[in-house]
Amino acid sequence: MQKIIVSVAALLSVIAVAAQKEIKVSVNRPTAAISPQMWGIFFEDINFGADGGLYAELVKNGSFEFPMPMMGWKEIKQQAMGKTLIINQGNENTANPRYAHIEADAVSGGYGLSNEGFRGIGIHKGEQYNFSVLARKGEGDLQLKVEAVNAKGEKIGSAQITTITSASWKTYSVSFTATDSAQKGRFNIAFEGKGAIDIDRVSLFPQHTWKDRPKGLRKDLVQLLADLKPGFLRFPGGCIVEGRDLSNRYQWKNTVGIPEARQLLMNRWNVEFPRRAAPDYYQTFGLGFYEYFLLSEDIGAAPLPIINCGMACQFNSSEVVSMNELDPFVQDALDLIEFANGDITTTWGKLRADMGHPASFHLKLLGVGNEQWDEQYIERYKIFEKVLQQKHPEIQLIAAAGPSPDGPRFDFAWKEFRKLNPGFIDEHYYQSPEWFFRNAGRYDNYDRKGPKIFAGEYASHNKEEPQAESRNTWLSALSEAAFMTGLERNADIVQMSSYAPLLAHVDAWQWRPDLVWFDNTRSVATPNYYVQQLFSLNKGTSAVPALLNGEPLRGRDSLYASAVI
Ligand code: AHR
Repeated sequence: MQKIIVSVAALLSVIAVAAQKEIKVSVNRPTAAISPQMWGIFFEDINFGADGGLYAELVKNGSFEFPMPMMGWKEIKQQAMGKTLIINQGNENTANPRYAHIEADAVSGGYGLSNEGFRGIGIHKGEQYNFSVLARKGEGDLQLKVEAVNAKGEKIGSAQITTITSASWKTYSVSFTATDSAQKGRFNIAFEGKGAIDIDRVSLFPQHTWKDRPKGLRKDLVQLLADLKPGFLRFPGGCIVEGRDLSNRYQWKNTVGIPEARQLLMNRWNVEFPRRAAPDYYQTFGLGFYEYFLLSEDIGAAPLPIINCGMACQFNSSEVVSMNELDPFVQDALDLIEFANGDITTTWGKLRADMGHPASFHLKLLGVGNEQWDEQYIERYKIFEKVLQQKHPEIQLIAAAGPSPDGPRFDFAWKEFRKLNPGFIDEHYYQSPEWFFRNAGRYDNYDRKGPKIFAGEYASHNKEEPQAESRNTWLSALSEAAFMTGLERNADIVQMSSYAPLLAHVDAWQWRPDLVWFDNTRSVATPNYYVQQLFSLNKGTSAVPALLNGEPLRGRDSLYASAVI
């Protein structure tokens, strides 16, 4: 049996008028097949979306690798009977050079370290928490007692490690069950006995993560993503791909393999907006490219990585790699395809298998650059296209139309990309609700012969004041719904779309609005989320005309509609 779904967005004030109109849906005149990837999601580590968000690690700066190595930590001193020294052994261990050396005399005093988490530590009553630490014994005998405390400093869970006897580095683990909940708790390590000890990679995770994977992802957040039934997962961004300068760019190879070898990088959103500064925002890459691929697979979404094309953020530094040094960037793209799809006898395919996934991740889409523009982008893109299309014709490439939905940069990109051969052009719109309503017919008369459209980042920004960040409002959600009827109606050329950004921590955001908000224990989907979900869960297989007096509904009498079978 065929099911016909008509999506109608209407401004409520005119719904009475709208109710008298007759919309004709021509079920026997399919205009386009709806791509299985039509409605997807965009993930970027912004607003504490990864560290402090999706990645369920509760300890901040557990390896003491932030440039201020004690950031997030404070000493607990009772009668000052201890001290902590941060030792840097950069020549021996470039990825994780620092560790903490502690000397304490808890026989006659008390000494410990306390971690603040990501704007507090969320603890759920009855949940098991798994602590682990890399440690080695020094002089004397010093053991660890760990505890979770609530905002008042009251203990709500504790455990002890009494087995640190080895003078070589070893991982020690212990668990406890929380006796109460805390929204903004802390995590304390007390050193018991008298002597010295070295510690590194201090970690605390809930037992129950998404699919209960050890050191995995926050399950309430992944569940919300899974409930969207997204057609694809775009990762890792966004501007984070580009970096503020090239040294700050996202390099996927530094995010795979054993977590200990993943080198910390400043998150570009740390310093991007001085009014929303987040000096404690770093990327540990506990959520790295392997985990992104796995997440895509888990939630049934096609993986859609975006790679750096030898260009840093043009808003920040405009730094580009010189054309004769572009090869390593192209090689990164080739190696990524091998990592995702390659046979396990290949170098990168083997790494994927060693990490636990011998089967291919079935990568078919690859974005080359994020919000790039002008000639310097086109000349770099051409090199990527030439090599990738020759070596991997099975991969569809996505080229960027820049940061705005129109204007000289946008027009230039389109003019050039019509001559080239990307599968998709990635268009971005962060615009007012009025723009979204007005543009519900944007694609009705688009040139059908060029590349397909990937509406790769969009959100309706309903600003109260010109300079302020906007909020998730009913009007913004409704305007997105109106716009999305236009995407659906033109499903022959618009074949992928994603709202952006996805996640935001209520106490640590830099960019608003966002699709899902969370704090340390809870998460909430916005009206904008439910609009995305309505379209995604009612995706259908073919678009059919939904007409009023022979015209598409794209704003007349404030009605917007599309229909699918
Ligand atoms: O979604 C937030 C940012 O908006 C993205 O990082 C960037 O691509 C765009 O400018």
